[in-house]
Amino acid sequence: MKHYLNIDDLEDVNSTIQEAIKLKRHPYKNSKLGRNKTLVMLFFNSSLRTRLSTEKAAKNLGMQVITLNANETWNLEFENGTIMNAGTSEHIKEAAQVISQYADIIAVRAFPTLKDKMEDESEFILNNFVAHATVPIVNMESSTAHPLQALTDAITIEELKPKARPKVVLSWAPHPKALPHAVANSFVEIMQELDVDFSITHPKGYELDPKTTKDIPINYNQEEAMKDADFVYAKNWSSYSDYGKVISQDTSWMITKEKSGNAKFMHCLPARRNVIVEDAVLDNDNSAVIKQANNRTFAAQVVLKRILEKL
Ligand code: CP
Repeated sequence: MKHYLNIDDLEDVNSTIQEAIKLKRHPYKNSKLGRNKTLVMLFFNSSLRTRLSTEKAAKNLGMQVITLNANETWNLEFENGTIMNAGTSEHIKEAAQVISQYADIIAVRAFPTLKDKMEDESEFILNNFVAHATVPIVNMESSTAHPLQALTDAITIEELKPKARPKVVLSWAPHPKALPHAVANSFVEIMQELDVDFSITHPKGYELDPKTTKDIPINYNQEEAMKDADFVYAKNWSSYSDYGKVISQDTSWMITKEKSGNAKFMHCLPARRNVIVEDAVLDNDNSAVIKQANNRTFAAQVVLKRILEKL
């Protein structure tokens, strides 16, 4: 693997899941692979899980890790040919090459604007690192994708599935702020690679990019969609068609114990209690959210391992 920018960079999702599960059993088996290699993690946005699990994964492989909060360094310029006499101090062309002097792999977190769809879909921060860095790039959540989270979610479903072809439902849930589509997009993409009975439920107007959802069934009746589900994955996202807008905060879409039944509850976290999901679901044995958080390490570890093997 050269870069890990989205799910398509995994040659085979199922074998990657199986390898991650093996790494979970023997996390230090490859502890010499990353010796004398450095991961630089750049965060343009906040993180708890991605930051800690990716560092832990790199250290399990013997790597050194440097973390930089990108907003605490020089303001970067991403446009070509700009006269830099305003707010930006350093061009990405130099910055990405300079960081590459200290890194064998660069991992980047850069959220969307949720204002300019074309700019967000161009993935201008992530792709500028790909264009100008001289080392592999790992996506730690970009404008449109969160492939480390999606791989984690697939590992968790594989570990917990009660039958060969489980029913998995992705449900929109309310949130007071406008949130990105990245987690939902990557979850939808990876579910299309697995043998699952997969559907999406959300209020009208919250359709994701049809290029991502393709022919996946969409049900506007949440209770009906979630009936007999083995896994309910809750996530909020803002409108895609009315780009970045909160068009509904319908509290009746909160995930409750009554609606989710015996399904395993999944969420990438952080989750607002009693807004996205009620306490009774998160505090129940059927909640898989902590297992998901643990699996973040092994999703990152299998990705870093495969990149290191190609260096
Ligand atoms: N799920 C996830 O990416 O968590 P953080 O935003 O805390 O990294």
